[in-house]
Amino acid sequence: MKKVTLLLSIILMMIFSSYKQEKPLYKDAKQPIEKRIDDLLARMNLKEKVMQLNQFTLGRNDNANNMADPVADIPGEIGSLIYFGSNADLRNKVQKKAMEQTRLGIPILFGYDVIHGFRTIYPISLGQACSWNAALVEKACGVAAQEARMSGVDWTFSPMIDVARDGRWGRVAEGYGEDTYTNAVFTVASVKGYQGEDLSSERNVAACLKHYIGYGASEAGRDYVYSEISSQTLWDTYMLPYENGVKAGVATLMSSFNDISGTPGSANHYTLTEVLKKRWKHDGFVVSDWGSIEQLRPQGIAGSKKEAAFKAFTAGVEMDMMNRCYDAHLEELVKEGKVSEDLLNDAVRRVLRVKFRLGLFDRPYTPATTEKERFYRPESLKIAEQLAEESIVLLKNENKVLPINNVSKIAVIGPMAKTKWHLLGSWAAQGNSEDIITIYDALQAEYKGKAEVAYALGCDFDGKDRKDLEEAKALAAKSDLIVLCLGEKKNWSGENASRSTIALPQIQEELAMELKKLGKRVVLVLSNGRPLELSRLEPISDAILTMWQPGTPGGKPLAGVLSGRVNPSGKLAMTFPYSTGQIPIYYNYRQSARPHQGKYQDIQSTPLYEFAHGLSYTTFGYGELKVSVSKLKRGDKLTVEIPVTNMGDRDGVETVHWFIQDPVCTISRPVKELKYFEKQLLKKGETKLYKFEVNLERDLSFVNGEGQRFLESGEYNIMVKNKKIKIEIVD
Ligand code: GLC
Repeated sequence: MKKVTLLLSIILMMIFSSYKQEKPLYKDAKQPIEKRIDDLLARMNLKEKVMQLNQFTLGRNDNANNMADPVADIPGEIGSLIYFGSNADLRNKVQKKAMEQTRLGIPILFGYDVIHGFRTIYPISLGQACSWNAALVEKACGVAAQEARMSGVDWTFSPMIDVARDGRWGRVAEGYGEDTYTNAVFTVASVKGYQGEDLSSERNVAACLKHYIGYGASEAGRDYVYSEISSQTLWDTYMLPYENGVKAGVATLMSSFNDISGTPGSANHYTLTEVLKKRWKHDGFVVSDWGSIEQLRPQGIAGSKKEAAFKAFTAGVEMDMMNRCYDAHLEELVKEGKVSEDLLNDAVRRVLRVKFRLGLFDRPYTPATTEKERFYRPESLKIAEQLAEESIVLLKNENKVLPINNVSKIAVIGPMAKTKWHLLGSWAAQGNSEDIITIYDALQAEYKGKAEVAYALGCDFDGKDRKDLEEAKALAAKSDLIVLCLGEKKNWSGENASRSTIALPQIQEELAMELKKLGKRVVLVLSNGRPLELSRLEPISDAILTMWQPGTPGGKPLAGVLSGRVNPSGKLAMTFPYSTGQIPIYYNYRQSARPHQGKYQDIQSTPLYEFAHGLSYTTFGYGELKVSVSKLKRGDKLTVEIPVTNMGDRDGVETVHWFIQDPVCTISRPVKELKYFEKQLLKKGETKLYKFEVNLERDLSFVNGEGQRFLESGEYNIMVKNKKIKIEIVD
């Protein structure tokens, strides 16, 4: 018996010790991440390190630029893949290759563009910003993360936070509008929504701030071009959203295509290393935009792919998205001593850190689930519908033509009335347009038993074909009211979608003019990915709303607004110019030397609809602005408040925008700057107090071209709507 026990214990010892030897530290989930990185890094050879810094693509996404890589060509040592399956099967198959057929078994990081939803599609981000509901946007990003992670995506190339003031640029659709502070608030909301409290949770994904930096300043709204950005503007307009996103713990950033006053975003050592790594201490990594390293050649700062690799890598871009520059040249650059091993190791460390934080080493495979388990959960659809409702902006409502009640015949006319596809918007990931309800169908359902809803096309989105006009006029003639559904096709905004004018095509405007001749009330409904030039449509429309591109909820939120079931509360996060010729035009402009002169000779110099404009079916009365103290020293507390009363006969939600103004400063400052916003429900007749707890340093200071903040003594104004109250900072 003793011999058997001895033999067994020896065998157990051997098994334990062999197991102990085979399981290296980096595979031990109980070890601290930094120790696991150290251990793994020490085991990696040069080629393995370089491959971690590359991202290829696995298939196609909905960006025509991005081509497929067949699975067989995918090396198991690759650091990352752009993956866009709607389930994890292919992902797990390729991940198995990395885990079982490579020397060290380093998991691949799977990324994808989940910009405004994965399968449950939310309104485009510019529309979301018009909801001024950061908490709801955070929830929407949380759902997008859950659907994506359960489908095999660990990392989203989102949020896009490019402050943009030129609607000719198609990518205004993807960001949160023209204002720095607005983008900064929604940056934090989306990073928290995507990443949650624990990145390793199978409901969260790594986020990616993009496009770092200043891409929204693309000259004349053309894509991929030069952007003139002074150091002052870089800091006072573009940096804050990124700084706040890094403070919120974002895992990654994406370097931009645009040439920032001579140094492209993907080769900009100042932004990528001086600011991001040294000043902000970001400990994740930067991925290039698709091809933005290789494109340093046409941008004229690299003569070869090798030089492009050298410039991007030494500037601070850790991962090469589909340039085929790092996998081709980084190894030789290190061997030649042009790129230091330290810099290489730091880059690999950053990538591994994100992979460890995501839990990929310990759970490399995505559990199999059904579509029903992953997509369209009831709470997800509810969030989508609420966000689409709150994104709708009522721009005009003459003689209270809205909500539409007490009519028996409604004519629904226009190219947007029966489309599903165009309501998805750009970058719609795995959105399925077949699941969308059209505006027409939604209105039929909304007015079932109350009014007859009939349809006519009227015209196409563009072109010159007028064959459908007469039928539309005939329908309108026998109706009480026209709901005219116009707008933009899905691919008229998003990447590589610049337009020389933000007016709708002539054929759509002509349809509106012809219908107006019939003397019926016209409710103009727009689905659009950018601010539009409406100066000719405004006079002939009794009411105007933009629903942006609402995503999965389609026409239902709009139908709710038209019937009055939903009281609109959206307000513009981007100015609607009177004319394309006014661009750039935005709310926080710097004062002219001659405010009374310098106007356009041929058109008005003010926008058609300004930033923060949006109507409700009720009216809100703003009371007196009050400050807790009017003379302050640095460090003092300041509370500003204003009572708001719902003066109408129905409940409504009101967002109050708080602006500051520094009329005299060392540098010329904008005429006003948004520094806080608050949204509240007010029942009919109810008065509520809106409060702004001013942090003098944060809210009243200005930043200079080196990124240093200054709070100067002197007078400031705190502004709400057309009211202002003065305070003074004394030394
Ligand atoms: C694109 C876009 C970027 C996107 C990337 C991957 O070119 O500029 O926003 O994340 O490619 O699809």
